[in-house]
Amino acid sequence: MSKITNICCIGAGYVGGPTMAVIAAKCPHIKVTIVDLNVARIAAWNDENLDNLPVYEPGLDKIVGEARGRNLFFTTEVEKAIDEAQMIFISVNTPTKTYGLGKGKAADLKYIELCARQIAAVAKDDKIVVEKSTLPVRTAEAVRSILDNTGNGVKFQILSNPEFLAEGTAMEDLLAPDRVLIGGDTDAEGVAAIDALVEVYANWIPKERILTTNVWSSELSKLTANAFLAQRVSSINAMSELCEKTGADVSEVARAIGMDSRIGPKFLKASVGFGGSCFQKDILNLVYIAKSYGLDEVADYWEQVIIMNDHQKRRFAANMVKTLYNTVSGKKIAFLGWAFKKDTNDTRESAAIYVADDLLYEQAGIAVYDPKVEEAQILSDLNYLESRTPEQNQKGITVFADPYEACKDAHAIAILTEWDEFKGYDWQRIYDNMKKPAFVFDGRNVLDGEYLKSLGFVFHVIGR
Ligand code: UDX
Ligand code: ADP
Repeated sequence: MSKITNICCIGAGYVGGPTMAVIAAKCPHIKVTIVDLNVARIAAWNDENLDNLPVYEPGLDKIVGEARGRNLFFTTEVEKAIDEAQMIFISVNTPTKTYGLGKGKAADLKYIELCARQIAAVAKDDKIVVEKSTLPVRTAEAVRSILDNTGNGVKFQILSNPEFLAEGTAMEDLLAPDRVLIGGDTDAEGVAAIDALVEVYANWIPKERILTTNVWSSELSKLTANAFLAQRVSSINAMSELCEKTGADVSEVARAIGMDSRIGPKFLKASVGFGGSCFQKDILNLVYIAKSYGLDEVADYWEQVIIMNDHQKRRFAANMVKTLYNTVSGKKIAFLGWAFKKDTNDTRESAAIYVADDLLYEQAGIAVYDPKVEEAQILSDLNYLESRTPEQNQKGITVFADPYEACKDAHAIAILTEWDEFKGYDWQRIYDNMKKPAFVFDGRNVLDGEYLKSLGFVFHVIGR
């Protein structure tokens, strides 16, 4: 394979968009084309106003602004882009199945399969196909089987190149990653394909940070990394409940254990629960794979991480109801934050959705403010749960563009995302306009509880 000069990426989402923007920015000699079936999404990526990009990530607008139209292109012409590219990244979504065998656990690979079939139908010369989406181990084999049975004599090399970026810090993670992982076949052609991708990343990443492995190790490493990270959050969240009972403070416990160099300080923040498109999906996937090999103890072990996370979300909502004199019926509850973490407009699996669901069951009226999430998304997140009709959700939820309006006349405020701007609010003004006693339930440990208490708030925080 000659030097890579033309890359196509299928899927212009939270992974494909930022990743390809950085490759284009760092490799001006490579033409990078991102394709998507979603016409509106591509139009948004091409919007002249960079504030309208479909993915919000600090720093992304600048990089897209630099590279777009030079060597970075967004288009719906999937076939043309596949035809012209030497290397094709598959970056489509792989949600958990909502039907059939493996429902609620296995990853739904229909989008991946469709991509493989599209590539097989269009390709006229040899291609390197790179799996970028998080995929269950052994997906490469399925993709290979589809590609190799097209009968048009084209040779495909399949690489696994999992994404480790975290939303909200995607640009930093892509520009200076801890490591890049590339899995491929161990024969000469496989090694050549791996080398071709290594050369792309080597344009800005030191070679010692680029690891190469076999395909299966690479695929499983991604699931393992996310399972370990999620497990840390569930572990500290489990301790947060114990802290609340015993009078210990979970932040102090986290600090104390984090100073042990074997444990380390990161990812020990107790919260209302982890969200995001990856953690739950990847663990469910791991559980499904383990079960399918008859490894019940392994499956149960990892499933507990999810069980703990669900418990944490439910107990947050239950604690609110209990504190508000066992009833929130007809009360206005303000939600500050809906995104699953700060600095992203992504809401997939956000704890806010589940806390809202529980409070709607209790007939609360929920007022939401999030600096980056649109009303339509919030309603669609709730409708997706199918707990009640869209009309009922619409009736129960009001979305505000102004946080002070969201909090006005509320009985309580729940902090569901750790947006920095919340710290700088005029909390005195918020307090003055709330029903009394005025409650704050900080699910992210972001506010200064002592200060809020001095203003008169009744303050509750996870883990204290
Ligand atoms: C994760 C992985 O970090 C990333 O490597 C992978 O590529 C995709 O999945 P992401 O889901 O974008 O990234 O964000 P992350 O920062 O990992 O946070 C996930 C969730 O855990 C968030 O809801 C966050 O609020 C929560 N979290 C994280 C905590 O509650 N406490 C912590 O200490 C850390
Ligand atoms: P991720 O977080 O993994 O990037 P997203 O849902 O944000 O997931 O993005 C995945 C994108 O892939 C979506 O915009 C979707 O329209 C696109 N997509 C899915 N299947 C195909 C396909 N066969 N061809 C082109 N785009 C696709």
